[in-house]
Amino acid sequence: MKIEEIEAKDLNLQRFIEEKIAEIASLAGSGLAINALSGGVDSSTVTMLGHKALGERMKTYFIDHGLMREDEPERIVSLFKELGVLVELVDARKEFFNALKGVTDPEEKREAITQAFYKDVFGRLVKESSATHLLQGTNYTDIEETVAGVKRQHNILEQIGIDTQEQYGYKVIEPLIQLRKPAVREVARALGLPEEIHNRPPFPGPALAARIIGEVTQERVSLVKKATKIVEEELRNTQAFQYMAILHEDKVTGVRNRKRDYGLQIEVRCWESQDALTGSPTRLSYDTLEKLAERITTEVPGVVSVTYNITKKPPSTIEAV
Ligand code: XMP
Repeated sequence: MKIEEIEAKDLNLQRFIEEKIAEIASLAGSGLAINALSGGVDSSTVTMLGHKALGERMKTYFIDHGLMREDEPERIVSLFKELGVLVELVDARKEFFNALKGVTDPEEKREAITQAFYKDVFGRLVKESSATHLLQGTNYTDIEETVAGVKRQHNILEQIGIDTQEQYGYKVIEPLIQLRKPAVREVARALGLPEEIHNRPPFPGPALAARIIGEVTQERVSLVKKATKIVEEELRNTQAFQYMAILHEDKVTGVRNRKRDYGLQIEVRCWESQDALTGSPTRLSYDTLEKLAERITTEVPGVVSVTYNITKKPPSTIEAV
C-alpha cells in the first residue's frame, strides 16, 4: 500500500478532522472499537477522533506495562476525564515483564513488546469487549523507519505484512498514517487538546524499555525512571525536540568515599529535530551538564558515571534500543 504524506503546510485542519471522523465511523461500521492511550500526541489525537466518531462505541484503555514515567498512567487518565473521555487503566505489568525476561537483543525486545501488546493484552481486551477494531496513532515517520529497516517501531503491523485480523483477531484503523509529528500536533490543537498534550515531547511506544540496554527488569526500570525524572526536570526549558536518560549494561569503576565503587552508567541524550528522521545533539551548557551529572550520581542509586551523547542521527538513532 502506497501512503501519501500530507505535510503540515498543506493540511486543511477542519476538513481533515471531519474526513477522519467520517472514515473511522464508516470503517468501524456497527462494530465496537477499542484503543490504547499513552498520553503521547499521536494516541491522544486518535482518542479524540475516535471519541467524536464513535462515542460510546469506542472504549479507551491506558495499558500500564510498568514502563511509563513516574505517575504517568494516573495523570493521563485524569487529564482525559477532564476532557470528557473515560479511560480504563489496565494493569499489564506482569505480562510485559514476563515477555521481557531474559531478552537483551534490541529487536527481540521490540518484538516481545509488540507481541505482549497486540497479541496478549489487546487479544484479551478485544475478546472481553467483543470489539472488532483497534484504533491507533501510527504516523508517517513510524512506517518510514520500519519499512526502511532502521528500527522496528512497535506499532507497525499491516505495513510489514502482518494480517492483524488473522493473527490477533481484529482490524486496525490508523487515521494519522499520512502525517508527521508537526502535522499531528496541529490536529491535536485543533481538536482542543491542551498544551501539555499537543506540545508533549515524543515518547517511544516501547517506553522506557527503549532506554535500557540489556535486560529490562523491574529494578532496572526503576533506575531509569529516576534518571528520566531528573533529565526531564533539568531540560524542560530547553525547547529541545526530545531528551532522555539511558541505562547502560556495562558497569565501570568509580570511587565513592575513597573506596572502589563498581557502578552503573547513565547516558543523557538531548535532541534537536523536526521529524525524528534526522537529529543533532543540543549544545547544552557545561553548567547544565554538570548539574545533570551531580544530580544523577547522587539521586540514582549505584550510578558512578554520566555521559552526554554528542552524535548526530544518523548514525545514532534517537532512542538507544
Ligand atoms: P529512533 O530511535 O528510531 O526514534 O531514532 C525516532 C522517533 O520515534 C520514537 N520511537 C518510537 N515511537 N514506537 C513509537 O511509537 C516505537 O517503537 C518507537 N521507537 C522510537 C522515538 O522516541 C523518536 O521520537
